[in-house]
Amino acid sequence: MDLNLLHTKLSEAGQSHLLQFWDELNEEEREELLQDLQEMNFQELNSFFQRAMQVPSHCASQEKVDSRMEPVPREVLGSVSRDRSKVQEWEKEGLFQIAQNKVAVLLLAGGQGTRLGVFYPKGMYNISLPSQKTLFHIQAERILKLEQLARQRHGVKCTIPWYIMTSGRTMEATQEFFTKHNYFGLRKENVVFFQQGMLPAMTFEGRIILEAKSHVSMAPDGNGGLYRALGTQGILQDMERRGVMYIHVYCVDNILVKVADPAFIGFCLKMGADCGAKVVEKTNPTEPVGVVCKVDGTYQVVEYSEITLATAEKRSSDGRLMFNAGNIANHFFTLSFLQDVVNVHEPELQHHVARKKIPYLDTQGRLIKPDKPNGIKMEKFVFDIFQFANKFGVYEVLREDEFSPLKNADSQDAKDTPTTARHALMSLHHRWVLNAGGHFIDENGTRIPAIPSLKDLTDLPIKCEISPLVSYAGEGLEELVQNRDFRPPLIIDETGVHELVKNGI
Ligand code: UTP
Repeated sequence: MDLNLLHTKLSEAGQSHLLQFWDELNEEEREELLQDLQEMNFQELNSFFQRAMQVPSHCASQEKVDSRMEPVPREVLGSVSRDRSKVQEWEKEGLFQIAQNKVAVLLLAGGQGTRLGVFYPKGMYNISLPSQKTLFHIQAERILKLEQLARQRHGVKCTIPWYIMTSGRTMEATQEFFTKHNYFGLRKENVVFFQQGMLPAMTFEGRIILEAKSHVSMAPDGNGGLYRALGTQGILQDMERRGVMYIHVYCVDNILVKVADPAFIGFCLKMGADCGAKVVEKTNPTEPVGVVCKVDGTYQVVEYSEITLATAEKRSSDGRLMFNAGNIANHFFTLSFLQDVVNVHEPELQHHVARKKIPYLDTQGRLIKPDKPNGIKMEKFVFDIFQFANKFGVYEVLREDEFSPLKNADSQDAKDTPTTARHALMSLHHRWVLNAGGHFIDENGTRIPAIPSLKDLTDLPIKCEISPLVSYAGEGLEELVQNRDFRPPLIIDETGVHELVKNGI
């Protein structure tokens, strides 16, 4: 772009300060800055900013949201624990659709993982399982196993395409990682990477922030950036070309995620839902989790900070919290619903404002790291589109079986860490072995009780890891473990059953 033209555009948009250090830049830096700026539509950015800032603050709207909220009605709710008798039927339906190549999975992996504090994409994180598998590796193997289960059940070879949304921050490293690991046994053509958008950080007055003289401070546009990216990156067309009709969307950081969960898919299909949310029961009123509910008759997620304690504490006649459908960003969409969202509704969605401490350059060009929020990042959320559903379904699963996110680095008292994720997975696999008729023994050969006594609690959990290539959700383990005693650590993988101590490993 011609520099004069850029000057004019910036001045029209009130963003001329972005070129204030131009004269101090060398050729290369000028190129870099031009590249950042040329891709930006300043008028559009200004309008995003204005619309986002118009939304009333949570505090002001609190009373109003409370009075407009209704819990999820029982008729749109399926529950793994309360509808136990139907789960098999749902699973059968989901597996049938998978066998017909109609199901795809879509991974949201464009986040920056700031709380975890690693410089690489979160999916590459190794939570120190005995196998040393990363989150990407585990998810890939679950896909492989599910394809195999569908093939065994229906006698046809099938594919679950894996769409992976990355961002400017994670794209290159993610692709390199998959290449290095040979796509973890998946076929390259069935793993489709695409990139979500980035937006500049802005001051509270709407001025775009520079993080260096030749660089704008940019961040991914939230996991709801998915919908714009699905359109601009040709992903919906790719799905259509492959005959995909149902899409399971999930977050990279949940170690227990059941990718393309056939029961969830089957439930949504039997309900005729075009949009579904998997939830876990919120049991503590002050747990910081958003809840799925109806507001003014349409479904949405209400964040914990948007409601009063009195509302959060309300209970139904069964004693459970009234607003207990804890959102875990795990969704089902039909392709036609996504097409409608992308083609019609996406532009209507407003960005949410996150007030942040954003490093910036002062007028002298010195980098300042503020100690209180000085600007905003704008984000859309993946659940912003619930309101457009024709038929919405909510599927409640057990937290201990399906949800343990990796958010923070290990430290005393921290929640959702590598340690809690590792423990959650091993504890699930421990239960799988017990349920399949296996037992664990201690170093004296005495059986360890299924629910250990208090004195054993320090040793929890029992070290047990089962490869997803062996079992997707606990199935098929009887022949390997029934009536056998194992001394942990126990590893079950495609090469067999391994007791590491016995084998001296
Ligand atoms: P989080 O909101 O937990 O963000 O994302 P994060 O990036 O993982 O971690 P922090 O907040 O920086 O510490 C939930 C899911 O949404 C994805 C993440 O990759 C994760 O799977 N996400 C988030 C995106 O795909 N894009 C985004 O812009 C933000």
